[in-house]
Amino acid sequence: MKISFAEPEQPRSGAVVAGIWEEGVPSPAARRLDEASGGAVTRALAASPRFRGKKDELLPIVGPPSLPLTRIVLVGLGKPESVAARSLQDLGGKLAAHLNASGESEATVMVEFGDGVAIEATEAAARIAYGAELRSYRFDKYRTKQKPEQRPSLTELRMAVTNAQAARRAYEPLEKAAQAVSFARDLVAEPANVIYPETLAAQAATLEQFGVAVEILDEADMRKLGMGALLGVGQGSARPPRLVVMQWSGAGDSGRQDAANAPLAFIGKGVTFDTGGISIKPAAGMEDMKWDMAGSAAVIGLMRLLAARKAKVNAVGIVGLTENMPSGTAQRPGDIVTSMSGQTIEVLNTDAEGRLVLADALWYCQDRFKPRLMVDLATLTGAIIVALGNEQAGLFSNNDELADRLIAAGKASGERLWRMPLGDSYDRQIDSDAADVKNIGGGRAGGSIIGAQFLQRFVNGVPWAHLDIAGVAWSKKDAPTVPKGATGFGVRLLDRFVADNYEPG
Ligand code: BES
Ligand code: MN
Ligand code: ZN
Repeated sequence: MKISFAEPEQPRSGAVVAGIWEEGVPSPAARRLDEASGGAVTRALAASPRFRGKKDELLPIVGPPSLPLTRIVLVGLGKPESVAARSLQDLGGKLAAHLNASGESEATVMVEFGDGVAIEATEAAARIAYGAELRSYRFDKYRTKQKPEQRPSLTELRMAVTNAQAARRAYEPLEKAAQAVSFARDLVAEPANVIYPETLAAQAATLEQFGVAVEILDEADMRKLGMGALLGVGQGSARPPRLVVMQWSGAGDSGRQDAANAPLAFIGKGVTFDTGGISIKPAAGMEDMKWDMAGSAAVIGLMRLLAARKAKVNAVGIVGLTENMPSGTAQRPGDIVTSMSGQTIEVLNTDAEGRLVLADALWYCQDRFKPRLMVDLATLTGAIIVALGNEQAGLFSNNDELADRLIAAGKASGERLWRMPLGDSYDRQIDSDAADVKNIGGGRAGGSIIGAQFLQRFVNGVPWAHLDIAGVAWSKKDAPTVPKGATGFGVRLLDRFVADNYEPG
């Protein structure tokens, strides 16, 4: 889909979108269309008493006589004072879905809302375009026999707005964000025969083109570093594990090693397929475990975005990539491994593997980079889905300020977080009789918290947050800016978190 910005003029083809305020009050754009069409808008509003101009309500007027248009789509804007960036993004997403469902090929959105709106028209146009772009994401590369009606119809979306140049400029960083989200979604959607540790590492290496420094550690490197926890997970697979380090030094004086200059660190679980290992998962639904690398995809997408928009911040992204397979060389329940931290781990369930991967990735990160803070993302537990459903990710943190900043970024970005507890009484449940720590607790109770406590044993006092994204990495239903499938959860959230708290002005 091509998105363009132009000064408003009466469109001569395709669909035209115009806003209606709550209680059915037409925007200036809708009023002009009404005049040009000899009252089509007024008649449609009168004939549709259930359309009240509430946020995101849609009312299509097909083939308005006397105008060379395929349709006029009236869209509810809600109340002027409640129009905001987020709601406009959602509006753009819903519009894109509607226009595609209608088989429309080109559309012009008239961004002329009138007075009393809190957001500038140029910014509003950019946000609508951003939402439309995010919603238009598709993962079609393996569908070779799609019929035309299965393909998206909308090829051109024009934003008609006064000072179109400024709107286009406002859209530039958002377009980069949409591209980074799409990149993360692609990585998650790819099957595990295509994306495995080596190929995922190669995808991360493409970030060099944006100015990210990328290092790939192989098995031998990790063995030298003593990463027995991560290596134990990978030892059953024919695909060797990798650890990827991505550095973006946007704060300029990256040579200085003082605290304010220390990087923000983002760490991702990248289990490219999780069979459970010898503690094997049931067959039903196992295919979902191709997206057990969604945490790493979010970190890669975030690093791409920070670099693409030249964020004035130092950031490091670390992803632990491995495949969890059962085989003659696989780790057994009861095995004891030594992590890079020196702590020994009794692996009582080989399906609790994400925490083993992160144990070494977290330790490596703080050991090498002395980061200002660490945020990890992981599809860590099924239990977080039981607790929070598919609406919000679980947030665990040893630092209230960090937690509050993440929650605020979640609200602003729409990728929401709900804070969960940590505490000694949970921590005691992973004391092992045979080693320093065991990788599961006693039963099913509090499973996500147990997972987080395990991670915390590998955090050395650094402000740290763990996002359990198992419930939000993949969606079974469409949302306004997220079509069903891989969501790319975390890219927008953490970009916002960085921009709002760690970049100058
Ligand atoms: N990758 C899974 C968690 C998961 C489950 C993500 C369902 C998405 C959907 C993780 O590695 C895992 O298997 N966790 C176990 C932990 C248990 C063995 C303590 C779980 O949640 O059952
Ligand atoms: Mn598992
Ligand atoms: Zn897993």
